[in-house]
Amino acid sequence: MKPAAPIPVQSAKTHCSERFFSTHPSRADNFTESVIREMTRLSLQYNAVNLAQGFPDFPCPTELKIAACDAVRDDFNQYAITWGEKGLREAVAGKVEKYNNMIFHPETEITVTCGSTEAMMASMLAVIRPGDEVVVPEPFYENYGPDTYISGAVPRFVPLADDFSINEEAWKSAFCRKTRAVILNTPNNPTGKVFSKKELAFVAELCIDNDVIAITDEIYEHILYDGNLHISVGSLDGMQDRTITIGSFSKTYSVTGWRVGYALADCVITERIRKIHDFLTVGAPAPLQHACITALMLPDSYYQNLAGEYDRKRKILFEGLKKAGFRCQLPEGAYYIFTDISEFGMTDTDFARFLIEKIGVAAVPGSSFYHHGGQSRLRFTFSKKDDTLHEACQRLEKLNHV
Ligand SMILES: Cc1ncc(COP(=O)(O)O)c(C=O)c1O
Repeated sequence: MKPAAPIPVQSAKTHCSERFFSTHPSRADNFTESVIREMTRLSLQYNAVNLAQGFPDFPCPTELKIAACDAVRDDFNQYAITWGEKGLREAVAGKVEKYNNMIFHPETEITVTCGSTEAMMASMLAVIRPGDEVVVPEPFYENYGPDTYISGAVPRFVPLADDFSINEEAWKSAFCRKTRAVILNTPNNPTGKVFSKKELAFVAELCIDNDVIAITDEIYEHILYDGNLHISVGSLDGMQDRTITIGSFSKTYSVTGWRVGYALADCVITERIRKIHDFLTVGAPAPLQHACITALMLPDSYYQNLAGEYDRKRKILFEGLKKAGFRCQLPEGAYYIFTDISEFGMTDTDFARFLIEKIGVAAVPGSSFYHHGGQSRLRFTFSKKDDTLHEACQRLEKLNHV
């Protein structure tokens, strides 16, 4: 999790902030700025094709745009109730019962948040006491590192196996008296792994035996390939009361900028999440919460089409990466390809910079998904128009001639 380039700082302020920084340590000192967002900035600077940050460059469904405009016109422009618009909580409860096989009461067990990012942070602040350990499977979505530090937790990074499956022995030894929570993410960013029912049942048993809470980030739940199925760990026996399930509208409906997500948890945990959420943000954007009700009314064909489109896109990028000399696998879910760059003889950060500056394609250095390691990997997203992906692949072909 280290930045690839220095961050420009206003010179007039430098001396004052350096003095302040050295005498006032803060929990923000434990982590760097987001490498993913930094790669986007560099990409803009060098006019590279941005396959770094996971957001679509194509429009969201027209029904959502109309619903958002209608909501603003209909004067849903003031704070919604802090834990989320009633209609949206009810719609989420319906969707979760049908798709995730779990029942949550909209009045007491669902909190609408500013994206899954806030849901994760509010959940951790709600259940963690400073000094508690949190098990984080590695590689991990880069936010989980800072999330643990901000909540005062001690992260316990547990390596996944080489094929990104759960390494049972490593997991068993990671749990101890201080373990309070485990973070899961399926379908997974950056690996594309979709955890099987057997793997999740193993984690569930560990959580139950050790009285641990599972916080599970399921924002890619509808982006699945090759017949892989999404299983919510909270739907497994004995897990509903000890799981916080986090979802979002960002990826499923291509509205990453709307900042609407949610946390599902039993009423005791939800009460705490809601208190934290209230004082962090008051609430998610009210008109967009209304529009998200429309999103949840889209027909099943929408989700089949979404997965089909991403299936095609993953194959375009996969072929391009292979041609350019990357070693990689097709992902089982989500919209990333996590490549092995050992053949290129550069570290991830040097190679990422080289790709942006000389080849014109931005990716994310693998080390931003590891506490230690990841220098032989780069992550590319394929959440882009076909034309964008073809352009990136064409540029990457230049690697065969350098
Ligand atoms: C695994 C994972 N969780 C959370 C997020 C952030 O989602 P949101 O836009 O809902 O905050 C991302 C974004 O890339 C992600 O990949």
